[in-house]
Amino acid sequence: MKPIKVGLLGIGTVGSGTFNVLKRNQEEITRRAGRSIQITMVADLNTERAKELTNGECEVVNDANLVVNHPDIDIVIELIGGYGIARDLVMKAIANGKHVVTANKALLATHGTEIFRAAQEKGVMVAFEAAVAGGIPIIKALREGLTANRIQWLAGIINGTTNFILSEMRDKGLDFDIVLKEAQRLGYAEADPTFDIEGVDAAHKATIMSAIAFGIPVQFDKAHVEGITKLQATDIRYAEQLGYRIKLLGIAKRTPKGIELRVHPTLIPAKRLIANVEGAMNAVLVHGDAVGATLYYGKGAGSEPTASAVIADLVDITRLATADPEHRVPHLAFQPDSMNDTPILPMSEVTTSYYLRMQVDDQTGVLADITRILADSTISIDAMLQKEPEEGDTRADIIILTHQTQEKNVEAAIAKIEALSTVVGQVTKIRLEQLS
Ligand code: NDP
Ligand code: HSE
Repeated sequence: MKPIKVGLLGIGTVGSGTFNVLKRNQEEITRRAGRSIQITMVADLNTERAKELTNGECEVVNDANLVVNHPDIDIVIELIGGYGIARDLVMKAIANGKHVVTANKALLATHGTEIFRAAQEKGVMVAFEAAVAGGIPIIKALREGLTANRIQWLAGIINGTTNFILSEMRDKGLDFDIVLKEAQRLGYAEADPTFDIEGVDAAHKATIMSAIAFGIPVQFDKAHVEGITKLQATDIRYAEQLGYRIKLLGIAKRTPKGIELRVHPTLIPAKRLIANVEGAMNAVLVHGDAVGATLYYGKGAGSEPTASAVIADLVDITRLATADPEHRVPHLAFQPDSMNDTPILPMSEVTTSYYLRMQVDDQTGVLADITRILADSTISIDAMLQKEPEEGDTRADIIILTHQTQEKNVEAAIAKIEALSTVVGQVTKIRLEQLS
């Protein structure tokens, strides 16, 4: 059979990994795919570097349009990133009848509906395993491996950069900025690293997973997004003393009223496997009604781990390209006419547990005032820690862990607690999930 011809857009961190792994494992990959897969064209702004990387083995061009419009190209791999030029190129490739592989979660979380519709109409595939959790085959697991299940919830450490930052800060006591620079050097961080540290990248990935898990459209604009920039070392320490670790989690949960879709720092019991996922590693915990909890773990970022997922998509497409478009695995797992409109809940309606830290004047009755406010708001206390004031200080830290309650109850209680004259400054609130 003649080789399948691939055009690669962007030969940066993931693009170069894809080129190298495909070349290194060409023989085995061909045996698996049933056809040889060859990158015959590469487009990159830096053509000199691209020529060096590809060693004269394929045509290198500066204008990516030449690739998406080339009649010989069967599959386009988009590894440029962002939602500007990348979106135009993906839409053009689809319009030209080419299958697309992309690692671009930002693009799919924001324009996925339009892209998948266009692909469906044109009868081509858009594959995106690398867009969520790097090398972990979580898309395939959700879309195919768990297809018998009604997914109840999923929770994941799905941003390598922030997990790397949290681990290095905790274990080595390094500063945030230094660790972020190292994550950039290692190729984990996004072109704009605020996407990582402000939780946006994790929310892109959680949005994509929520669509596949629940059969809803991708709705990044409805996700609650909070990053790690406001997290304080004090809270990481107190959480440890209470038997918890703080991780940036992406959570999608089915509830009777709708879907919770949120990314925020979260306390997790230290004994859970997922609490011990360190560095740039990712892990996703998925709970299905039949299978129970399943955990997927591996490298969530980096050149070759991500290339592993990109190439798995290339092989899938090569195997399925000849299948009738109506009978391929649907992009978002559910048949396009069977998507539902279960709403994504506002954060005020979310139910979870909470870690609350407040600084108080060390006076009689302060604790009673605080616990009364919590009780009046129907918030039940699970655990409490009071730190004695440092010598010469008159203020003490109180840390309270609550049982599950609605976010709006906690917000109301916090407002009342902050209004107490004995409470200094603001209450720190971090959500807590037992993940049991
Ligand atoms: P890089 O910035 O390393 O690579 C992007 C490449 O695209 C660069 O070589 C860049 O060239 C090139 N490029 C930019 N604009 C154009 C254009 N108009 N035409 C052709 N080439 C262009 O990014 P990554 O490889 O890290 O990421 C690529 C995608 O993969 C992103 O969507 C990212 O979110 C995703 N991803 C990344 C992971 C990672 O670990 N890095 C993991 C999972 C997904 P130049 O450098 O000259 O600007
Ligand atoms: N910036 C992303 C991360 C890359 O740190 O996880 C992988 O998607």
